[in-house]
Amino acid sequence: MSDSNVLEGPANAAMRETLSVPEDAAVAVRRKKIHIKTYGCQMNVYDTNRMTDAMAPHGYDEVDTPEQADVVILNTCHIRERAAEKVYSELGRLRKMKDARAVEGDRVIIGVAGCVAQAEGDEIRRRAPTVDLVFGPQTYHRLPDMIARAGNGGPALVDTEFPAEDKFGHLPAPRRKQTLARGVTAFLTVQEGCDKFCTFCVVPYTRGAEFSRPVARIVGEARDLVAAGVREITLLGQNVNAYHGDAPHGGASTLGGLIRALAEIEGLERLRFTTSHPRDMDDDLIAAHGEPGKLMPYLHLPVQSGSDRILDAMNRQHTVSFYLDLIGRIRAARPDIALSSDFIVGFPGETDDDFEATIDLARKVRFAQAYSFKYSPRPGTPAAGEAGQVPEDVKAERLARLQAVINEGQLAFNEACVGRVLPVLFDRRGRHEAQLIGRSPYLQSVHVENVPEQLFGKLSDVIIEEGHANSLKGRLAQAAGQED
Ligand code: SAH
Ligand code: SF4
Ligand code: F3S
Repeated sequence: MSDSNVLEGPANAAMRETLSVPEDAAVAVRRKKIHIKTYGCQMNVYDTNRMTDAMAPHGYDEVDTPEQADVVILNTCHIRERAAEKVYSELGRLRKMKDARAVEGDRVIIGVAGCVAQAEGDEIRRRAPTVDLVFGPQTYHRLPDMIARAGNGGPALVDTEFPAEDKFGHLPAPRRKQTLARGVTAFLTVQEGCDKFCTFCVVPYTRGAEFSRPVARIVGEARDLVAAGVREITLLGQNVNAYHGDAPHGGASTLGGLIRALAEIEGLERLRFTTSHPRDMDDDLIAAHGEPGKLMPYLHLPVQSGSDRILDAMNRQHTVSFYLDLIGRIRAARPDIALSSDFIVGFPGETDDDFEATIDLARKVRFAQAYSFKYSPRPGTPAAGEAGQVPEDVKAERLARLQAVINEGQLAFNEACVGRVLPVLFDRRGRHEAQLIGRSPYLQSVHVENVPEQLFGKLSDVIIEEGHANSLKGRLAQAAGQED
């Protein structure tokens, strides 16, 4: 799952002060403001959206900056040390803001949500007494109640259990207006948690046991998103291809089955999913990639290492030859598929030979894109205490070499698209006048000039003219005015 970007909070928040009647109250109240800053993976982005939706009926509108907000929440990531440390430095800044506003008689509630909250609830309370609320990824449906209680002052409330009730069943449906403001692509969490316990990873501890949402609930949520203008949905899960949610007529559905059910939704143009584990890539899902339809030819399939010895120490439960054979079968079903991956360099005990094997694998597969990270020891995970920790300078050197190979593959993939006509879904406005940016089926960013505004949010054929390291450039295949 790509978690390399820090994503800022809401972009299109309503900033007006309004007097209005909340949906569940008979009296007029001043609407309040909430700012949620999101770190980490796409699942946190989705969770942030659901938290904002959960607060809306309680009188909260989202705003762009902490300075404007009555409630500030950091939705955090614990995957690597740097991700977690960012939270504490942000809390330092927020403390100053909170103290300054207190002088003006303005009370601000500060909350920490997400994976750092789950893993380090008590430490947050100790290191950052300014925090009023600490809650994990499985309890945010209780946010309205927690905020109401925190408003009374007193010590920080901590809610980091893994409750028996399903939070999705307690959250309001995504709001039409909010979703519209968020654009033409959307994330939808279908599966959560992980039972795999890779020895480097915190996710099984922060997100808990694997759980799949029922097909009917997901289809209902997807319909609402499409009704609000969404054209592309990315299904999310820490192990999304292990999906096994209740099927509408009994039994369990595979991810392939869920994708076919969602593809029936009229108005939905594209489907994607992330992140998958190689071991859960079943024949049905491979076949789904070969079927014409809405599933895009892109697959993120983390391998982590090209050495069997290291894969075993990581408890990845697959070998290099298993992975390469799988890639062969996927490419047989869908020859043009864009493959992506995650790599960790400098796992404890990784020798030069192990690392060379990783370089070999990256060269063999020729990924269209990939993320690579220096191993970061995480408290409580088995690998953190192992002998043979690799020195920082060796990790840095290996990372640079691997990234050079990955970049080469990515550039080659992008250059090979030049001259092709690709359908592009325009989902962002560029910096130039009449420039729109969209995604190709392979998830590349495609920049196009002189695009009529009415093509925003639509699929258009684009002739690819340039392939760069991180994007493509092209022109509309049909001149403006000739579209039907
Ligand atoms: N469920 C996904 C992983 C989500 S975490 C999967 O199984 O692929 C996203 C990525 O972060 C992982 O694929 C891994 O490459 C990286 N990562 C996880 N823990 C890490 C650690 N301790 N140090 C460095 N990178 C790590
Ligand atoms: Fe972490 Fe491994 Fe689970 Fe992925 S499969 S979330 S890397 S434990
Ligand atoms: Fe980070 Fe938690 Fe996602 S640790 S990568 S926010 S699941």
